[in-house]
Amino acid sequence: MISNRKDDHLNFAAAQQREERARTDWDEVRLLHHGLAGIDASDVDISTSLPGDIRWPLPFYINGMTGGTETTGKVNAALAEAAAETGIAMATGSMSIYLRDESVLPTFRVLRDKNPHGFVMGNLSADATPDQARRVVEALEANALQIHINSVQETVMPEGSRGFGSWAENIASVVESTPVPVIVKEVGFGMSRETVALLAELGVSIADAAGNGGTNFARVENDRRAGKDYAFLADFGQSAAASLLDATTLPAETPRPALLASGGVRNPYDVIRGLSLGARAVGVAGTFLHTVLGESGVEANAAGTKRLIEQVNDWRDRLIEMYAMFGAATTRQLSETDVMIGGELAETARLRGVNLAFLANRRSFRR
Ligand SMILES: Cc1cc2nc3c(=O)[nH]c(=O)nc-3n(C[C@H](O)[C@H](O)[C@H](O)COP(=O)(O)O)c2cc1C
Repeated sequence: MISNRKDDHLNFAAAQQREERARTDWDEVRLLHHGLAGIDASDVDISTSLPGDIRWPLPFYINGMTGGTETTGKVNAALAEAAAETGIAMATGSMSIYLRDESVLPTFRVLRDKNPHGFVMGNLSADATPDQARRVVEALEANALQIHINSVQETVMPEGSRGFGSWAENIASVVESTPVPVIVKEVGFGMSRETVALLAELGVSIADAAGNGGTNFARVENDRRAGKDYAFLADFGQSAAASLLDATTLPAETPRPALLASGGVRNPYDVIRGLSLGARAVGVAGTFLHTVLGESGVEANAAGTKRLIEQVNDWRDRLIEMYAMFGAATTRQLSETDVMIGGELAETARLRGVNLAFLANRRSFRR
C-alpha cells in the first residue's frame, strides 16, 4: 500500500509543521557580529556551486518529498510552479512507486513539465539498481538523482525493510552508471563523519546531511503503527548542524563529498547557519510544504503556489541583506565567518573532537 503511505507521510509531516516548535540545534549556532565587517548588498552573490558543474542561483532548495498519488501530485505541481517562477532547485519524493506502476509518472513528471529549464532531481532508495536509476533520470529528464539512506525510517515503518547490508555496494554501482550527479541524502537522522568519508570512497561527490530537528520520520512512521511501538526513537539521530561539525574533524587529506544540509530549516538565518558550517546549500522540506498547504493543511492550490513564490523571493532578499551584514560577498565566504556553538550541540561536538574555539575565531586565524 505504497500509495497510502505517500498520503500518510504528507498528512503526518504537515501535522508536525502545525505543532509548536521546540528549540533545535540551529538555535545553538550563532554567528558573531562584527559591526564594521559589512559590505554593500550590491556586491553580494548568493549563488552556489556543486561538483558536476552545478550552479544554483539560490543557496537553498526544495528537498525531496512527494508524488505517486493524486493528492501528492497536486503538491508537486504547486511546488514545481513556484520553482519555475523563482529558479529554486527541487527534488521529487521517492520514485520507487513509479518503478512498480508507470501510470503514476505524471505526479512526478509535473516537476519537469511545469519547469522545463529548471534544476530537477529525482529520488530513489539505496536499494535502487543502476537500471532503475537510469529509468528515473530519463523519465524526469533529471539534472541530478537523490538516493536516500533511511535505515531508521525503515526500522520504524510498519512495512519497512530490515535489509541494509547491500546499500553501500548499490550506491557505488548507481554512481558509476548514472549519467547525472548522484546526491546521497539522509531523511532526517544526520550523517557521521565516517558515513561522509565512506560516501567519498563509493564515488559520491555530493551528500545531504539531512538531520533531525525538523520533519521527524521516526514519529511519522510510529504514528502509522497501531501500537505506537517505537516512541523511544523519537529523538534519535544527529542534527544537520552536528553533522556538518562532525565532518570538520576529518583529516584534511581525507576525500569527502561536497555537503548539503537540511532538516528543520525554518528561516533565512537557518540557511546562513548551515552555510557558515560549510554546507554548499541548505534544503527545505517541511517548512515549504506547510507554506504550500497553508494552515488548514488540506490540499495544494494556486494560493499555496503564490505563498511559496513570495516566501522564496523573500528568503532570497533576506539572504542578500544578511550576506552583506556578515561581510560575505559569496556563499563560500560565509564558511569563514566566526560561529559560536552552544548548548547540547557544543557538548556533542566536543565529544566528537570538534575544535569549537577555531570556529569562533576564524576571522582572526585568517588574517
Ligand atoms: C511529506 C514528506 C515526504 C518525504 N519523502 C521523502 C522521500 O520520499 N525521499 C527522501 O529522500 N526524503 C523524503 N522526505 C525527507 C525530506 O527530504 C527531508 O530530508 C526531511 O523532511 C527533513 O527536512 P525538513 O525538516 O525540512 O522537513 C520527505 C519529507 C516530507 C515532509
